[in-house]
Amino acid sequence: MNKKIFAANWKMYLNSNESKDFMLQINSSRDFFSEFNIMIFPSHISFEAIQVLAKDLPNIRVGMQDCDILTSGAVTGSNSITSIKADSCLVGHSERRTIFKENDDIIKKKLNNCLEHIESAVLCIGESLDEKEDNQTFEIIKKQLSILPTDLKGKELIVAYEPVWAIGTGLVASKEYIEDVLSYINNLIKDLYSNENDSNIKLFYGGSVDENSVKELSTIPLLDGFLIGSASADFKKFENILNKMR
Ligand code: PGA
Repeated sequence: MNKKIFAANWKMYLNSNESKDFMLQINSSRDFFSEFNIMIFPSHISFEAIQVLAKDLPNIRVGMQDCDILTSGAVTGSNSITSIKADSCLVGHSERRTIFKENDDIIKKKLNNCLEHIESAVLCIGESLDEKEDNQTFEIIKKQLSILPTDLKGKELIVAYEPVWAIGTGLVASKEYIEDVLSYINNLIKDLYSNENDSNIKLFYGGSVDENSVKELSTIPLLDGFLIGSASADFKKFENILNKMR
């Protein structure tokens, strides 16, 4: 099996029928897809159906796109991490940070919530274009990572480096640029988690990953996987990405 992890962040692209169709197509090409380590983050409304359709596919984990800071209560429209048995959950995605005005305090609560109740969490971090042009990338990364707990309690932490200027823009960060930032992240994390099992801590890249960029980026030694948005919500495009990695 290919060692890299391919995480599909379906965002709000697919309705529940389209999400099910996608999974049915995976099921019909099961031999091909079983070669890859996959995570799927469907919309909450499709979650259970996707989980059922993935149940005979042990190489596919199904995660939530977001969770509340609380596990239950009067929070209209929100979803608790305990509402469903998720394999993982995204927190701190730049769309949550900007559209929903989530600050590091909120993201910290969500991350701790995930690490307490489920086995894995994906913390998304990354600088905006202004911050990049202002040479603040490392400072921003350091600040966004300052919310990490000191103890992971044996849970999996995936840090997804997603420069905001690369998300949904078609602009993929260069291999050298990603290597620089990942090695900075890696140093910070290594310091913090010197006692943790290395295999529980993973680094992803996300931002306009597609079939044209995936192969070259996959040669980055520190990279454990990809968080893929729009190209992951189109069955053909997702299949093409994986095909490049065979
Ligand atoms: P994109 O999104 O691949 O559409 O740029 C990535 C993400 O937001 O996780």
